[in-house]
Formats: sequence, structure tokens, C-alpha cells
Amino acid sequence: MCGIVGYVGARDINAVILAGLWKLEYRGYDSSGIATIYDGEIRIKRAIGKLKVLADVLDKEPLKGNIGIGHTRWATHGEPSEENAHPQLDCSDSIAVVHNGIIENYINLKEKLIAEHHIFRSFTDTEVIPHTIEKYYTDSLENAVIKAMNEIEGSYAFAVISTKEPNKIVCCKKNTPLVIGVGEKDNIVASDILAIVGLTRKIIYLEDNEICTLTKDSVKITDRNSNEIKRKTVYLNGKVLEADKGGFSHFMLKEIYEQPKVIHETIEKRLQSGELFKPFPLSIKDSELVKLSRILIQACGTSWHAGHVGKYIIESLCRIHTEVDISSEFRYRNPVTSGETLVIAISQSGETADTLAGIREAKLAFLKVLSIVNVAGSTIARESNDIINIDAGPEIGVASTKAYTGQLFALYLFALYFSRLKWITKDDDLALMLKEVREIPSKMQMILDRASQVEEIARKFHQSSNFIFLGRGINYPSALEGALKLKEVSYIHATGYPAGEMKHGPIALVDKNLPIVCIIPKSNIYEKMFSNIEEVKARGGQIIAVATEGDKKIKELTENIFYIPECSEILSPLLVALPLQLLAYYISTLRGLDVDKPRNLAKSVTVE
Ligand code: M6R
Repeated sequence: MCGIVGYVGARDINAVILAGLWKLEYRGYDSSGIATIYDGEIRIKRAIGKLKVLADVLDKEPLKGNIGIGHTRWATHGEPSEENAHPQLDCSDSIAVVHNGIIENYINLKEKLIAEHHIFRSFTDTEVIPHTIEKYYTDSLENAVIKAMNEIEGSYAFAVISTKEPNKIVCCKKNTPLVIGVGEKDNIVASDILAIVGLTRKIIYLEDNEICTLTKDSVKITDRNSNEIKRKTVYLNGKVLEADKGGFSHFMLKEIYEQPKVIHETIEKRLQSGELFKPFPLSIKDSELVKLSRILIQACGTSWHAGHVGKYIIESLCRIHTEVDISSEFRYRNPVTSGETLVIAISQSGETADTLAGIREAKLAFLKVLSIVNVAGSTIARESNDIINIDAGPEIGVASTKAYTGQLFALYLFALYFSRLKWITKDDDLALMLKEVREIPSKMQMILDRASQVEEIARKFHQSSNFIFLGRGINYPSALEGALKLKEVSYIHATGYPAGEMKHGPIALVDKNLPIVCIIPKSNIYEKMFSNIEEVKARGGQIIAVATEGDKKIKELTENIFYIPECSEILSPLLVALPLQLLAYYISTLRGLDVDKPRNLAKSVTVE
């Protein structure tokens, strides 16, 4: 949830660390800080608020030094404040630490350290790290870090500098990502490759329980017994450099507009031959796939919603029992794991702590895990038996948009292949469906070309304080996703419901002030959905409808209609998602909010 950067080398320390932190600001942005070593002392600057505040401070008073660590924070322990910002220091201001994760036993450690006369100056869990290192620092910083690792419990990645050994950064990780960038005469460490690629594309992914020492000329990795580990660097190519707004006012808008391209490129890559071959290079054999009796999808947030749509797709196309779990529930509920079960984990970032823990649980039960990710080298990708990379390019806006439709598309291709394998979808039907699949990018583009119609609807309703989103069948999860999108970027309370459930309670909320977004594309339950809308309309609710082009009947219920191009019901979530994302985007910007960095959120949730 926080971003770490450490650099050692001759370049301008402020510029390198700040450049890295800008790329990591998506991970947290309530405060930030940087520490260097210069003239035998730790030099430190910390600031509350977005990174811009720290950048302005450094602009006026740049720090000196050839070694430094920086941090952008998403507060877990202790409110956003200067003293709670990282780097955190030991008693003598000679050790500085930046940390991402949570130290679960920090209260015990803190009490012990206070009894040993350590003086604490923050409310963070992180501060126990520099003090514990201080306690054990006798011969080398590495040994002190290992001893600290032996004491702390939880998930963490941290980087340390010390004035006693002013030429090295020591870092380590457990359950939280850390990547080393190997330069020519300098080296860098960061939470994410995005912060590194500006400097070097030679990368080492640190594994759990490893300790890495960086000097300007060397990178050394050891285990917790100080045995050296030889690790090859990997060379990064591909889309990692695309993280700019490309002329759009916000990343979220840019990413919404990228959806036709992402789906088009996937089609080019996966469906080129006109035949449906195994759409992704999976190691799971066809003979294993056909034996499956159950699929268990686990994910969080928007990825969980994609999983929900996936359940409808897989059950309908493959006739295989599919369950969907929120990872933070799955990992603790002792799920039944018998039978021929495949676990599918879905995660844009590939770093979500709960989803990763779910994968580990599944593997302990000897289940195979297929993950759908957007970051190929991520921890989830590396720990899964198989991955489908949605290849959507970096998603910077905190609200997931193109990754969501990319995840859905991966699930469609997987299910179509699987269905064909089981001889459930016949060749002719498959050909028709693939024809429709190929039309999705242009239909998405048609929606985007009419974005101003969504903006008009947003203008009418952006001051409302509650919204309900209704859908049925495969678009019930679309309603959940529409509501999540709106609440996270606009701070408006929004809830998604299966429309048939309204009369069992939520209809009591309906009055003339309540906008109700009704997802009613052409489908075999259109009439049922229509009556559900009539019920809320009769109670005075203000209807906003997402309907299919040519649907005149819906005009009986509302004038606030956004039409999506005609498509079969099973594919409709791919199109429905776009007006809902645009609605959230416009409402947020009309309310003057920071749509890319909504309050209290972070892009990558690497804590439990
Ligand atoms: O990286 P992941 O897909 O694993 O992230 C899961 C959720 O944290 C994420 O989808 C979150 O709900 C987004 N902010 C939604 O827009």
C-alpha cells in the first residue's frame, strides 16, 4: 500500500528518488518522505499530503548525498502527519527505514523497546524496525536486519540506510513486493518496476525472506542464514513505459478510452487464425481441464466482480459448477477443497495480499491455481501454476477500468475454449460467438464516441447523495461494479442489487431523490427487469437506464437513457461497464474530486 524507492549512485538523489515516487504515488499518497546520508549524517525531509508537497520542499531545499531512500504512504497505523511519515528513524537518528506492509506484533515489540529505553516519536508500526535494528546493530547492517526480521511478524518490505555503513542500502521482504534494478554504476530498489524502468530494465525480483545489499557497484542477495543466493537478472521489455496521461485530463479517463484497443490487441494476439486455439499458453493439460468438476474463483474488489461475471460465463458456456469468493473470506473460511477443483485468482496488480494468501491456501490443499493478472512479473503471477496475462498495460487510476474489461475478456476466451473442449458449444455457435467477440472493440468505441451523453446524465445527478444500481443475471455483477466505481471516486453512497431482490427490503429506500441506475440490455429476462424498474418508478425513484439500441419501451420509464450497441446477453457486461465507468468519472470530476487518487484508497493493496 505504500511505495518504497532506494537509490545508490552518482545521479541527483532528489531527482531519482522523486521520479520513482511519482510512479509509485498510486500506492499511497497521504504523506511522503526521503532520507539521504551526507557528511556522516542522515538528512531527512517529510511532508503531509500528496507527493507534490514533498517535491516543492525538495525544490527549495534539495537534499545532498549519493545514497537515499524515499517513501509514499498510505496510512495504516497513525494518521497522516509529518512524524508518522517515512523514513522512520532510530533513537540516534543514524538509521532510517522506509516500509511497506504491516508489523502485526508491533505493540509487543514497542513495549519491550520502550522498557529498554528506546524513544518513539511516531504512532506507526514501522518505527519498531529502526529501533530493533539499532538494538542488534553490532557488526553489520545486514546481520542487524536479519535479527530484526526474526523478531517482527507480519508482511513487510523495507529498506534501511545507516550512517555507520554509509555506502549501502539493505532491504528485505516478506509477502510484500520488492524489485531491484541493476544499473551500470548505480543500483535502485523499489516496490514496483514502474519506479525502476526509467533507470534500468535489468531487474531482479526479490523473494520472500531474502535480504539484499545494494552499493553503487554491487547487488548481493542472501537468505536469513547469510548464505549468498545467485539470482539472474531479467530484462524487461513491453509496455512498462506507458504510464503517462497521453493528452487526457486524468488517467482514469485515458484508461476508459483504452478499452477498445486492449480488447482489439487481445483479439489480434489470441484469435488471429479465426479458429479458437488454446487462447493462452497454459500448462494445464486439456485432459486435466475436462476432468474438472468445480471452479473456485477468488479475488477482491473489482476483480471479484469480474469473477462474478465469470461464474455466469463459465456455468453457462461450460456447465461446470463455479463458486466466487472474496479472497479475505476465502482464506479464513476453510473452504471445501475436495474434488477436481481449479482455483482461478483474479488480480489486476498481482500483488493483492488477500488474493495472494488465498492462492497459498489453495496450493496447501494441492489445488492448481490459474491467475488472471495484468502484471506478468507480479508475486501472484510467479506463485500461480498458470497465468493469463490480460496485457492491458499499466493501470494508474485507482479505480480499475480497462483491467476489469480485460479480466472479463480473458474469462470469455477461457470459457469458450473450455466449452469447445467439452463439446458443449458446437462449431456453428462458436463461430457466431467469435464473430460477435471480434465486434466488441468497435462497439466499445461507439459507446465512447457518445460519452457526452453520459456526462449530461452525470450533470443532472452529481449532487445526489445516494445511488442504487440494479441489474439481473449476468449484469447483476455489473450493478455491483457500477456502484463500487461510483462510491470510490465520488464518495457518494452507492449500492448494487439484483433487481429482483428490491422488494425484499431495499425498495424502502426509494423516494423522489434517489437515482436508480438500471442495467437493462436486451436479454431473456428483459421483461422481469422491466417490471422491477416499474416497481421502483412507482415509488418515485429517478431512473437512469442503460439499455440496448432500439429499445423504445424503456422510454416509458425514463428519459435518462444511455444506449449500448446491440449484442448478445452473455457479452453485454463488456459494453455495460463503459457507461457506468464514465458516469462515475464525470460525477467525480463534476464534484471537483481527485478522480485518479481518491481519498483513503491505494491502487495496490498489499496489506491484509
Ligand atoms: O489488483 P487487484 O485487482 O487484486 O485489486 C483488487 C481491488 O483492490 C481493486 O479491484 C479495487 O477494488 C479497485 N480500486 C476497484 O476500482
